[in-house]
Amino acid sequence: MEQAENGMRITIEGVRHIYKDDTVALDGIDLNIGTGLFGLLGPNGAGKSTLMRIITTLLPPTEGKVSVGGYDVVHNRREVRGLIGYLPQEFSAWRLHRVAEVLDTLAALSGLEEKSVRHKRVDEIIESVGLKDVADRKVKKLSGGMVRRLGVAQALVHEPKIMIVDEPTVGLDPEERINFRQLMTRLGQDRVILLSTHIVADLGSGCSDMALIDHGKVKFRGSPSELIKRAIGSVFEITIPRQDEARVTSDLEIVSREDRKNEVSIRAVSRDRNLPPGARPLENPNLEEAYVAFMVAQGKKLGASEKEVA
Ligand SMILES: Nc1ncnc2c1ncn2[C@@H]1O[C@H](COP(=O)(O)OP(=O)(O)OP(=O)(O)O)[C@@H](O)[C@H]1O
Ligand SMILES: [Mg+2]
Repeated sequence: MEQAENGMRITIEGVRHIYKDDTVALDGIDLNIGTGLFGLLGPNGAGKSTLMRIITTLLPPTEGKVSVGGYDVVHNRREVRGLIGYLPQEFSAWRLHRVAEVLDTLAALSGLEEKSVRHKRVDEIIESVGLKDVADRKVKKLSGGMVRRLGVAQALVHEPKIMIVDEPTVGLDPEERINFRQLMTRLGQDRVILLSTHIVADLGSGCSDMALIDHGKVKFRGSPSELIKRAIGSVFEITIPRQDEARVTSDLEIVSREDRKNEVSIRAVSRDRNLPPGARPLENPNLEEAYVAFMVAQGKKLGASEKEVA
């Protein structure tokens, strides 16, 4: 997709972050992020939220330098905040207020004093995130997906050039997740969007650039298709009688499985690189399978949460 370049970038150089209890959350991060939807992938505890809090000026890095649109996150906090819209991982809104009221109040706080201008702006945002039908509904009566879209709407109030969204799809049902992916792809056409997730499928086809982080380090940087290319040959499919499943799969990292009559069909990655007899390597692994293959190649055993699928 051809993307408009608005000159906005996030530049991260040599960033380390050590929390007060000596936890090393970030251990030397270098990243350069431009216009479009950028996916920040990584398992629980990888350091995604810490990095996002540093970029949004909420947390100063222990070491290193981050600049947003040319402004330093430590020395130019106000300018950086003006450029960024942020949807935190633990977003919630005043539950007893109505959707339009929440946004109108935030728009007023962001400096839109003229009522007619503000109302127009709020209407546009509500329309753009697809909340028009529920604009008069109280927040407590919204679905999980709607609350997340309200979270995006609040981050858009001051028309930021850059959006930081932290795990926006957790807890959404499959349909809400598809809607959310489409919204992010659309917003990414003329903005920098940094989106973190540990649900790989949620990056979707609108994401052309990504980083995979683990234990506070960048383990992969490139396009999703490059990650997929690397996985060709190591992800395979195998169909086995159900009674053999435990034995055959003991050395496999299973990505998905499908029950047939007396058999089970499995898509997996081998931990010791030996393919079991009858395994058919996949020519077109998906991004999630590529992520699992990459992590297995790093010697990592994945938990269930890393392999959640749509
Ligand atoms: N306030 C804190 N004090 C001490 N350690 C922290 C704090 N916040 C996070 N950590 C630790 O820093 C590391 C990185 O945490 P972070 O929240 O950035 O990871 P994450 O990738 O966002 O994980 P998740 O997918 O679970 O949201 C973890 O080891 C975490 O336990
Ligand atoms: Mg997090």
